[in-house]
Amino acid sequence: MYPVLRKILFNLDPERAHRLASGAARLAQTVTPFAVDSAFSFAHPSLHTEIFGQHFTNPIGLAAGFDKNAVLLPFWKNIGFGFVEVGSVTANRSRGNKRPRAFRLPDDEAIINRMGLNNQGAERIVRRIRRYSSMPAFPVGVNLAKTHDAGIEGEAAVEDFCKSFRLLAPFADYITLNISCPNTAKGRTFEDPNALDDLLTAIDREKQELHRRIPVLVKFSPPITDKFVLDSLIDELIMVSLAHGASGFVATNTASDRQHLTSDQMLVESIGAGGLSGPPIESRSTRLVRYLYRKTEGKLPIIGVGGVCSAETAYAKIKAGASLVQLYTGLVYHGPGLVRQIKKGLVDLLAEDGHSAIGKAVGEDA
Ligand SMILES: Cc1cc2nc3c(=O)[nH]c(=O)nc-3n(C[C@H](O)[C@H](O)[C@H](O)COP(=O)(O)O)c2cc1C
Repeated sequence: MYPVLRKILFNLDPERAHRLASGAARLAQTVTPFAVDSAFSFAHPSLHTEIFGQHFTNPIGLAAGFDKNAVLLPFWKNIGFGFVEVGSVTANRSRGNKRPRAFRLPDDEAIINRMGLNNQGAERIVRRIRRYSSMPAFPVGVNLAKTHDAGIEGEAAVEDFCKSFRLLAPFADYITLNISCPNTAKGRTFEDPNALDDLLTAIDREKQELHRRIPVLVKFSPPITDKFVLDSLIDELIMVSLAHGASGFVATNTASDRQHLTSDQMLVESIGAGGLSGPPIESRSTRLVRYLYRKTEGKLPIIGVGGVCSAETAYAKIKAGASLVQLYTGLVYHGPGLVRQIKKGLVDLLAEDGHSAIGKAVGEDA
């Protein structure tokens, strides 16, 4: 059924298609939640896992950016995701960049976007998350970013992040600090060791004020090079994160460059700036997962994201060291049935390798 729906959706501008699909999902989650649930359900004990002291019924999650405003949480659970990361949420509401700002590259099953952190703002979004914070066995992570406003910089940028943290951390199962958004080029980036140090120092203070323990993860960009030797910037960012007791990492965000594309070059050039996602970044993201796993000797959970569109690509991330896996672009090209397909395939792959539980495969190829 999705191939037919996809044809209709792909005739529309990607953002309109996203709005239409989200509207249909919203209807489904209120009108026919049980029908959706049974059509997509697949559970298996080998997929259960325990991360950050929380139970996940399966390791496949929705990546940040798809449900920025947390409007579809029951729907994601009903189509079989094991968890979801909402956001990026910023302290102030933001309309994002001018349209058009999302583009498909069908020949590569990829997307280029420069959404620019459009979202309804922390105060509005927290009200929705509160309502679902007790949804059983369905961890909800919240991805935070700095408000897309170049005028907010220095200490104000750190305070902007902290404001969102104060509002959302009491109700989130984990927090991801999005320091790697490629679409806010005019704003200050926190993918700089000193800036990250300032940010994490402030977040440490916020954590002490909080009356509960909250895992805080840091989300990185994919490495520029495909070679295993990574630049020292990554090492510095890892060191700073570890010095502040980060609970884990999310690897990776979209890529700013245009490597590994087969699409018509004129088409790619006509799109202009933006973050590339989907299969063209798959191997680089997996490489960073492996690098992080080795650097941290497998002690910290890693969420692997980038180009996951099959059980095999999800399993590759897990074997490289990811305890959990997320996807975004794969969902656009393959539809909601992909989640069930990946889970079923993972059960088979685990059995082939003689593993009784997903946790046993984590880092096997690191
Ligand atoms: C249209 C779009 C919007 C995104 N928005 C965000 C965002 O707001 N925050 C964030 O951390 N990542 C965002 N991402 C990045 C994804 O979370 C993910 O890291 C990246 O797309 C790689 O995964 P994929 O290849 O499965 O899409 C966005 C991706 C896309 C395609």
